[in-house]
Amino acid sequence: MIDDKRMSSDVIVLDDVESSRGFQERALFKAGYKRVSAYAARPIDIKDHVSRQRNGKADLVLFGLDPAKDESWDSLKLLRQEFEGPVLATGRNHNPETRERAEKLGVSDFLSIDECGEEGLELKVETVLTTHRIDTLVQENDSRTQELFVNILTVMVKILESKDPYTRFHSHSVAKWSRMIGRRKGLSDDELNRLGLAALFHDFGKIGIPDEILGKTERLTEEEFTVMKKHPTIARDLLASLEPLGDLLPAITHHHERWDGRGYPSNLKGEDIPLWARIIALADSYDTMSTRRSYKEPFSRDRVLGELEKCRGTQFDPELTDYLLAILRENA
Ligand SMILES: [Fe+2]
Repeated sequence: MIDDKRMSSDVIVLDDVESSRGFQERALFKAGYKRVSAYAARPIDIKDHVSRQRNGKADLVLFGLDPAKDESWDSLKLLRQEFEGPVLATGRNHNPETRERAEKLGVSDFLSIDECGEEGLELKVETVLTTHRIDTLVQENDSRTQELFVNILTVMVKILESKDPYTRFHSHSVAKWSRMIGRRKGLSDDELNRLGLAALFHDFGKIGIPDEILGKTERLTEEEFTVMKKHPTIARDLLASLEPLGDLLPAITHHHERWDGRGYPSNLKGEDIPLWARIIALADSYDTMSTRRSYKEPFSRDRVLGELEKCRGTQFDPELTDYLLAILRENA
């Protein structure tokens, strides 16, 4: 019985040697691959050959690499620009240097066409395609797992914040301001997304703080404050096992450090404090100052600006503070 996956796999053979090209085409067809296209591997035609496939996407390219010819390397480079899937380099004289150079260009595997025979070709193609399918599945699962974690944590943050009506939108607001400051600092879109998540979960560790301390409207006693100060490390310990969120941990753990080293939990100072943690610390304080709490009214705009100026270089990273001040003044 012919494997359905083979029937539906689009395979391109790119090879300048006609006999080699014909051999691969026949062997693949015999093995059940019915969607095989074979062409010479001239650089000028690579783009056309790849885009001619169904939806512009093939499942595998067998590329006849002749390491002695510059043109062959040029074709391989162009292929990598046009094609994201697995490339199996066929041909001869694939010594270790050739393999290293080809691997850097994204070649997944190598096959000596002179020696492999039809069965060897079939086996190698099956192996490369299966490995690629597994890798794709793992990646999809990773992003689904990550999405699931994020959704669960978001719900938990909402539950946490719902205990105190004054902090209901705090984490979202800190995420918004963190992203705005991060953008001024020149972070990439990916970094801004991750920073936003870290900011959203910055107080996640409060889940481990007793309600009577969390909900207390009067000033905390020294003992209570010692307990409260544990929330960044509680978050770190709770989230440490969630591998897809690992890059967020330094920011969450250190969001109460101060530029002058008098923060907690590690008394980190200046640029020893992770950048995202410095950003979140600033956004967190700004949001707390400018919104109502059970123990205080929102500060006036002038007072907020004054506090930021005053704490620039002591509590907060001075450069980041300047970014926030600029944002606030531009949006006055
Ligand atoms: Fe906090």
